[in-house]
Amino acid sequence: MTPFYPLVIVIVVLASLSIIFLVHNDKRDSKHSTLPPGNCGWPFIGESLELLKLCSRGSPEKFIQDRMNNFSSHAFRTSLLGQDTVVFCGPSGNKFLFSNENRIIEAWWPRSMMKPLFFPTPMITSTSEFTKKIRSSVLEFLRGETLQQFIGSMDAMEKEHLEIEWSPHREVEVFPLTRKFNFTLACRLFMGVNDPKLISKIAEPFLLVSTGFMSLPIDFPGTAYNRAMKGGKILREEVLKIVRHRKVQVLEKIDFGEAKDLLIRMLYATDEKDKFGNEMEIANTIISLFNAGNEPISATISFVLKYLAELPHIYDEVLKEQMEIAIVQKTRRMIELERHTEDEIHLECCERNNEDCISHPWSF
Ligand SMILES: *[C@@H]1O[C@H](CO)[C@@H](O)[C@H](O)[C@H]1NC(C)=O
Ligand SMILES: *[C@@H]1O[C@H](CO)[C@@H](O)[C@H](O)[C@H]1NC(C)=O
Repeated sequence: MTPFYPLVIVIVVLASLSIIFLVHNDKRDSKHSTLPPGNCGWPFIGESLELLKLCSRGSPEKFIQDRMNNFSSHAFRTSLLGQDTVVFCGPSGNKFLFSNENRIIEAWWPRSMMKPLFFPTPMITSTSEFTKKIRSSVLEFLRGETLQQFIGSMDAMEKEHLEIEWSPHREVEVFPLTRKFNFTLACRLFMGVNDPKLISKIAEPFLLVSTGFMSLPIDFPGTAYNRAMKGGKILREEVLKIVRHRKVQVLEKIDFGEAKDLLIRMLYATDEKDKFGNEMEIANTIISLFNAGNEPISATISFVLKYLAELPHIYDEVLKEQMEIAIVQKTRRMIELERHTEDEIHLECCERNNEDCISHPWSF
């Protein structure tokens, strides 16, 4: 196991304890600011080692609990990964954070995490018009209605993935596969990249970054952090190449149809005055999305599969439910076709799904 995993666990545990944000205070020596109680530990490494130690014993929540007991149940100060940190705890801490975002609180990444990931632009904290446009294209893209346009192709990709990666094997390792699938999906949705060769060209350095950027920031040959720095450089170059390539396509006014990927949307949204703005900032935005949530979601899917494998009675019920849904949806799709088109298509469709046609005529 790489040193990265324990920290992933921490993040998950933090979330489940409703301790969501680590907030950074820039004014390290401001005498006027009131900081929450706490202890910053050793210089530079702070209390990272205590946290890692508890992680390796499988009880990272103890780190939080101890400090809540000693200092405050609302917020305490510590130092993690080389940065002063305040941890907010409990429902009131959550409420404070989420009701003040972009007012008195700004999203922020620790320096040591930004370095392997991003081109050095003042990305998340920048408030320029361009950044606002990019942000709103991201929000727009992540809305349910927009993502709906992609359900068809997601479904197709999922089937293909199962056929190629799962069906031929008697035994598979779930986590790497769900991660691979998710990454492929992300490449398709965020950048319109379908070519498996190009995807693995991006996936390799991404894996290095995502396993190393949260480790102790010691940039020395052989450390996970060092590998993340190297991977990040390749990742950024590849993504930048794609951004430039698609920018040319947009300039050539190629028609992308309805289901536009995020990159195209960002390029369209920013094309008037700022001439597509800063390519690196667009690349950074895409990389930050790649990074957000990839591990937790793949881990969730892996756990679902693990429990389904261990609990056959639950598996049976889930299978039954899924089959019922599949039948209803097939029938529904056929009715739609029937409604909109001639008998020919209806017949064709029936032939393809002939078993449903016989056992499930139009009523259900
Ligand atoms: C909490 O207080 C106890 C008793 O004073 C002390 O032994 C312990 O080290 C403290 N823990 C932290 C994390 O400060
Ligand atoms: C998949 O991975 C991407 C990037 O790695 C991430 O942003 C996204 O939240 C993950 N989950 C899904 C369901 O796409």
